[in-house]
Amino acid sequence: MRTTVGIIGAGPAGLLLARLLHNAGIDSVVLESRDRAYVEQRQRAGILEQGTVDVLRAAGAGERMDREGLRHDGIELRFARRRHRVDFPALTGGRSVMVYAQTEVCKDLIALQLKEGGPLLFGAEALAVEGADTDSPRVRFRREGREEVLECAYVVGCDGSYGVARRAIPEELTRVYERTYPFGWLGILADVPPSHDELVYARHERGFALLSMRSPVVSRLYLQVPAETDAAAWSDGEIWDELERRFETADDWRLERGPITAKSVTPMRSHVHEPMRYGRLFLAGDAAHIVPPTGAKGLNLAVGDVVTFARALAHQAATGSDDLLDAYSPTCLRRVWQAERFSYEMTAMLHRAPGATPFEDRIQLARLERLASSRAAEQDLAEAYTGFLLE
Ligand code: APR
Ligand code: PHB
Repeated sequence: MRTTVGIIGAGPAGLLLARLLHNAGIDSVVLESRDRAYVEQRQRAGILEQGTVDVLRAAGAGERMDREGLRHDGIELRFARRRHRVDFPALTGGRSVMVYAQTEVCKDLIALQLKEGGPLLFGAEALAVEGADTDSPRVRFRREGREEVLECAYVVGCDGSYGVARRAIPEELTRVYERTYPFGWLGILADVPPSHDELVYARHERGFALLSMRSPVVSRLYLQVPAETDAAAWSDGEIWDELERRFETADDWRLERGPITAKSVTPMRSHVHEPMRYGRLFLAGDAAHIVPPTGAKGLNLAVGDVVTFARALAHQAATGSDDLLDAYSPTCLRRVWQAERFSYEMTAMLHRAPGATPFEDRIQLARLERLASSRAAEQDLAEAYTGFLLE
């Protein structure tokens, strides 16, 4: 099998890349190890930056998002039983975000790809990328028990945090930057209308909590828990009691309870793989970088990477110049590090680290007080949350 761009992985990065290339008249093949149902059901985050919304619309993948997504003009910070709203459009010259689940983005992109795009092969597991430093890289993969080879002009590893693509980059050229956090998030889906119409990020002595949503009738809520927590160890009643404590306010706000339909624990990690390119192999999305979910940046970073690659390749096709492809890694990494910084700072400001000292508690509260009283501080958060503009 032969194609121009071999794409490993059909998460949001690989699927959107296939769509962008199709629109630019460049052919591709997507290899995905799991089956379609698995990819469409995986629960992930749900905040799309303004720039991501614009990209999906321009790619012709925004129709259902525009119908069913919820536009959000702010978030609430909750601390010391107080509530402070951050007004995005007022602070950023009109920017907002969209609440539309990543699984829904994937469903929309899969349907489009199968209808009008190039091959999207489920149950096709990439085993290795070979010849990345030559003009004809190859992906060896296994499908239905048989080994096959995909011959490419370029390979893009969109194969997530445990993928195989980045192993083809020689270790002596690689630098990995990492941080693990001593806590994770216990996330639930519940059949109950969200108790607030915007997201609530709560800092509490007992730990962080987040109120989010999937629709006007489905809530998504998270609790900071120790790393390695087993979700089954928490009963539904215990989860609601703990959420209630952490979201408590001095006014008459109430948390509505409802049946919990899903429960899982997400670990928290920061990770950057440099460089994001070796020869004709490019890394995009989680394959190159992980952020803790507090800043809601994971999906948006993946979108930024594949837009940067698709533009660079279209430029190459139109002009014969490799300039933009050569700039891919440094261009992406500037944006990636800003998102890493923001995600790290949001995490540090809102979570209670085990063994945190009273001094550290006071510093967290002082940061939140500063946000609630300084337009400059608030503007910095609003700009980062609604998105770093693509270069
Ligand atoms: N061969 C084929 N496919 C593979 C292989 C392999 N060897 N290894 C992994 N994959 C597939 C996975 O099954 C998955 O569908 O690659 C895909 C990677 O998708 P994601 O993990 O969703 O990563 P990405 O597309 O970069 O999206 C980033 O996902 O984890 C969230 O918070 C993150 O929102 C961000 C988004
Ligand atoms: C979510 O809705 O899943 C979500 C929202 C905001 C975050 C993280 C996750 O920061």
